Amino acid sequence: MRINKFLADNGVASRRHADAMIAAGRVKINGRTAVLGEDVGEDDEVLVDDRPLEKTEKKAEYYLMNKPKGVICTVSDDRGRKTVMGLLPEGTGRVFPVGRLDYATEGLLILTNDGELSYRLTNPKNEIPKTYLAKIEGTMTEKDLNAIRSGVELDGILTKKCRAHIVETNKAYTKVHITITEGGNRQVRRMFEAIGRNVLFLKRIRIGDLTISGLDRGQVRALTEEEIEYLKKL
Ligand code: URA
Repeated sequence: MRINKFLADNGVASRRHADAMIAAGRVKINGRTAVLGEDVGEDDEVLVDDRPLEKTEKKAEYYLMNKPKGVICTVSDDRGRKTVMGLLPEGTGRVFPVGRLDYATEGLLILTNDGELSYRLTNPKNEIPKTYLAKIEGTMTEKDLNAIRSGVELDGILTKKCRAHIVETNKAYTKVHITITEGGNRQVRRMFEAIGRNVLFLKRIRIGDLTISGLDRGQVRALTEEEIEYLKKL
């Protein structure tokens, strides 16, 4: 196997970044500096920065993205649309989005290669609270939100109780903060559609207490150790 693929498969770096590491002389095979395009086999000893590589160990990586609209939440798209992967910094390992935000929805998205955390955060049994800012067409009252709070029927199933309150309302639109613990396809949009309302704009602003404040649209940063620990306990 080519050394750059080997390093990528072991979660060290993307192939391109692995090539840069090889070119910089940071990679050794059997005690000698590796060269670009070289092959490695099962029995070869590979060192990166003079440290051995656990062949099965993948370095866990965790990112927080402020997803813009018009970008799809998959690793690749057969229709050639822009994916969230294209917004990740050079050298990012093989991470994947945790859950989905639909094409037109913006906001907080976690990307990681930690399958356990991803499973935890997306398993509906864990009822992880996710908060959205929804801009709804027309005026609304708090009373109008009661149906949303107590549950609306989507595909014959009642949505779970949720929190929702108005942050601004006028003739043209109403801004609502809504916190749901489910993650159905286009769930927030469909909940408002179920009460005859049109969602003009939708942005996820929190998962638990984790927010995207400080991140502009399209920006990405690594999660801090504290944030990772927090998410693992959520
Ligand atoms: N609800 C939606 O309607 N869309 C999303 O992307 C997430 C929640």
